[in-house]
Amino acid sequence: MAVHVVDHPLVKHKLGLLRQKSLSTKDFRALSNEVARLLSYEATKDLETEKVTIDGWNGDVEIDNIKGKTLTVVPILRAGIGMLDGVLDMVPGAKVSVVGLFRNEETLEPVEYYVKLANNIQDRMALILDPMLATGGTLIATVDLLKKAGCKNIRGIFLVAAPEGLKKLEEKHPDVEVYTASVDDCLNENGYILPGLGDAGDKIFGTK
Ligand code: URA
Repeated sequence: MAVHVVDHPLVKHKLGLLRQKSLSTKDFRALSNEVARLLSYEATKDLETEKVTIDGWNGDVEIDNIKGKTLTVVPILRAGIGMLDGVLDMVPGAKVSVVGLFRNEETLEPVEYYVKLANNIQDRMALILDPMLATGGTLIATVDLLKKAGCKNIRGIFLVAAPEGLKKLEEKHPDVEVYTASVDDCLNENGYILPGLGDAGDKIFGTK
């Protein structure tokens, strides 16, 4: 499985700011989108293009256009919404597929409560958005449902990933490519990533 840790000074700097305890909701939200924007730039760098001739200012010009039905962005509710604007800044025409899952407290299995996928998803690359790849349970359930819908090209964009979640993803879906600003140390006993960012959903939405 390919794990791309985006080692760019801007990404590293912004991730460092995100780790600050005292950050306001406004700044956490803004920085999450900024890092997501930079990660999505990397995650789309091998999108296929095709030559098209256009009417330029001085006659015909051959340009490169991104090919066909290209992308769907898949924010996982709720925290993935905090990365959506940043990614859509880079790919404004992308269709958005929303996935909401909760964990059944008895079976511990993820249960779908809201899923609305883009049409022709089988022809699109899916970019899953979630700030934190922690245990990997929600991510794997999301990949399962995207594959069931016919999606063949799936990438995940995470602000921070834990080795435990990456290992689980590798076991279940080794074809999924990961783009992240950092692979952190480990999970704590409550499933939080260390050093991590804390509860990303609460910080993005200003809840607690
Ligand atoms: N979800 C979060 O918001 N933070 C973590 O550290 C792990 C999961």
